[in-house]
Amino acid sequence: MTRISVGIVGCGAIGMEICMAIDRDKFADRALDLNMELKWLIDAHPERIDQLCELLRRKPALTRTDSSDLAAILDAVDLVIECASQDAVREYLLPALGAGKDVMIMSVGALICDPGLYEEIERLAKERGGKVYIPSGAIAGLDGLKSGAIGGIQSVHLTTRKPPRGFAGNEYVQAAGIKLDGLQEERTLFIGPARAALAHFPENVNVAASLSLAGIGPEATKVQIVADPGAKENQHEIEVRGEFGQLLVRVRNFPSKSNPRTSYLAALSAIATLKRISYPIKVGT
Ligand SMILES: NC(=O)c1ccc[n+]([C@@H]2O[C@H](COP(=O)([O-])OP(=O)(O)OC[C@H]3O[C@@H](n4cnc5c(N)ncnc54)[C@H](O)[C@@H]3O)[C@@H](O)[C@H]2O)c1
Repeated sequence: MTRISVGIVGCGAIGMEICMAIDRDKFADRALDLNMELKWLIDAHPERIDQLCELLRRKPALTRTDSSDLAAILDAVDLVIECASQDAVREYLLPALGAGKDVMIMSVGALICDPGLYEEIERLAKERGGKVYIPSGAIAGLDGLKSGAIGGIQSVHLTTRKPPRGFAGNEYVQAAGIKLDGLQEERTLFIGPARAALAHFPENVNVAASLSLAGIGPEATKVQIVADPGAKENQHEIEVRGEFGQLLVRVRNFPSKSNPRTSYLAALSAIATLKRISYPIKVGT
């Protein structure tokens, strides 16, 4: 089997887990069988690259802090993984798709928040033959939603519940005059379409975006955001109704160790997607 050569943009919490998984070809002593090789790492902060390289047995030959010679280093890879920021999706993945490479997107909110980006990605992938992988990230249930969408979906609701501190500094909450300090009972901060939720709650952007893309889009997908003093972790509840029946999913996420704003499940979903890419038998929709 041919080795898949990989370039990574973003050496933070998710990038670190992905790189370690590729480097060791196992996770917590379980073999992954990815058969992948890290060719280059990019991060705007060079110290992040250095910290990550310290952990790797086989250090990538190339590292960069910006996209200035991206066209040259794209030659070396088959797959470019973005685990950096919404801006990085446009900056790095459009050139990668233009060069016919496969890409993986973690900052999926960019596909809704950056006007025209989704259409450009779709056009380049169709014209040049690259594949675009979007892991499920911090939620579950996208498999059932995608299946249900074939038969017809009537509604998709996402309820996100977080401890009040998870909304500290949120401008929409401040403008609404909602006091989060000393909250004794749960308080709904927002109910409305996913597109508006994405604009007002950027810390919640990826989950609402993946759900919208897998199902009925950012206008029809409804989102409720709740500050809950009783919640210890971030929780996402998804309810889908369609011709198939009803789907109910609740995910209670533990945070990643190196970035408390990122759910550990998001990093695991990226590694599971790599497994899906490399392994010939693909279970699940
Ligand atoms: N799909 C999901 O459900 C999901 C879940 C969690 C996080 N995410 C997203 O994945 C991304 C990575 O998350 P993380 O927790 O690893 O973040 P992080 O902050 O720990 O690391 C991101 C790294 O990328 C680098 N970076 C950012 N923009 C860059 C650019 N334009 N060029 C070069 N380097 C850049 C930063 O310097 C940083 O080191 C974020 O955008 C986050 O919102 C998605």
